[in-house]
Amino acid sequence: MDNLSQYIDWFRHSSSYINAHRKKVFVVLLTGETIAHENFSHIVHDITLLHSLGVKLVLVHGARPQINAALSGAGQELRYHKGLRITDTDSLQIIKQTIGAMAIDIEAQFSMGLANSPMHGADIKVSRGNFITARPLGIIEGVDYALTGVVRKVNAEAILQHLDKNSIVLVSNLGYSPTGEVFNLSAEDVATEVAMAMQAEKLILFVPQRGVMGKDGQLISTLSPVQADLLLKELAQDESVARNITLESLSAAVKASNKNVHRCHLISFADNGALIQELFTREGNGTLVSKDNFEWLRQATINDVGGILELIAPLEAAGILVHRSRELLEAEIDYFKVIEMEGMIIACAAIYPLDEESGEIACIAIHKNYQESGRGDHLMRALEKEARKQGLTKVIVLTTQTAHWFMERGFEPIAISDLPAKKQQMYNYQRKSKAFIKTLR
Ligand SMILES: CC(C)(COP(=O)(O)OP(=O)(O)OC[C@H]1O[C@@H](n2cnc3c(N)ncnc32)[C@H](O)[C@@H]1OP(=O)(O)O)[C@@H](O)C(=O)NCCC(=O)NCCS
Repeated sequence: MDNLSQYIDWFRHSSSYINAHRKKVFVVLLTGETIAHENFSHIVHDITLLHSLGVKLVLVHGARPQINAALSGAGQELRYHKGLRITDTDSLQIIKQTIGAMAIDIEAQFSMGLANSPMHGADIKVSRGNFITARPLGIIEGVDYALTGVVRKVNAEAILQHLDKNSIVLVSNLGYSPTGEVFNLSAEDVATEVAMAMQAEKLILFVPQRGVMGKDGQLISTLSPVQADLLLKELAQDESVARNITLESLSAAVKASNKNVHRCHLISFADNGALIQELFTREGNGTLVSKDNFEWLRQATINDVGGILELIAPLEAAGILVHRSRELLEAEIDYFKVIEMEGMIIACAAIYPLDEESGEIACIAIHKNYQESGRGDHLMRALEKEARKQGLTKVIVLTTQTAHWFMERGFEPIAISDLPAKKQQMYNYQRKSKAFIKTLR
């Protein structure tokens, strides 16, 4: 009875998670080790359950141990450089056969529907296709990786079309080039790029351990991308196989989190039910890598001057931003907004009032590791809101290398002679910046 009431209680409480996950895109990495494990059939059941609850699923599968076994079976040497396989024409033949057979087996597992099994009535469609464009990795330190490639592009739209038709999409670690060649890719690379291209809600990575384990042997249940990156450097010293799979997954999680994949989960492939516990309970089961609560946009203070100087120094050196001394920044700090991530300033921007109706947007800079993830847009919206609050109706910007970025955000070119008088007097004719204006609505 006790068990039954616990079960009912858990089931009721899971409804908020069911609502939150419905219609969201989850990308799941199934490494070759995951597929080979005896728990894989349970993972298939749990993935089926997610699909039944309306989650849009993209499964990316790898095949590392299976490929190793097939190559060794064919008497071929396993060639690696810096942990990455070197793929020649002969081994690619065997890799294609191995991956093709694995994809068919995975499809078969999702096609089961025996009565008295969790798959009964699921009626799942699995779609596959040429969603991944690849390019050769090339020659590194004199070593030619030949047919080992990296992801060049993901056809997110085509994947979405299949998801919208209620299919599960299965992607392998092979990619195709516009020249018609096939490239062997790392499944972690494919999963990360797919999650980023689809702006997935979650990237789920199955690992041999419960998640990421700290030096004390305890599970680390949450990490920000910055913490995860630091930990990666520490753990990289350890050579054990189990750790390496976890490290590759952790590195994929850091990359995806920094590019707007909301949550990345590392969970055990050996632990029956780990996926369900991670997604439907507050405590979770593995390690969550997420920027949630770790990053905030706020008004700058005098204490941020050092961080801003550090952020803008390389951009000043490249001539993208005009030089600002520490004294000037201290005097003008009230015009600045910053994005702080765990004590580090990763972005800044300023709005200077020019006259009664206009202000100037200046010194907008995002740290290079965090660019192209919407932070520039986020800052622009905050500056425009600030301008409106001050009663301004127009904002101008002068730029040498970022004209199109501003134009795509509603700015229009104007002549220097049309700038507000104060700005015209200060215009630096040597920099030859272009001027743009935006009317605030
Ligand atoms: C320009 C900058 C502020 C944009 O911020 P961000 O957070 O990286 O960018 P967002 O995520 O908001 O926008 C990304 C888009 O901007 C585009 N973009 C980035 N830099 C660009 C540039 N210099 N010119 C035109 N477009 C640019 C990207 O290609 C991307 O386009 P897509 O979505 O079509 O692929 C940032 O890249 C930066 O700090 N650059 C260096 C400093 C600089 O140029 N400051 C402006 C001085 S006036």
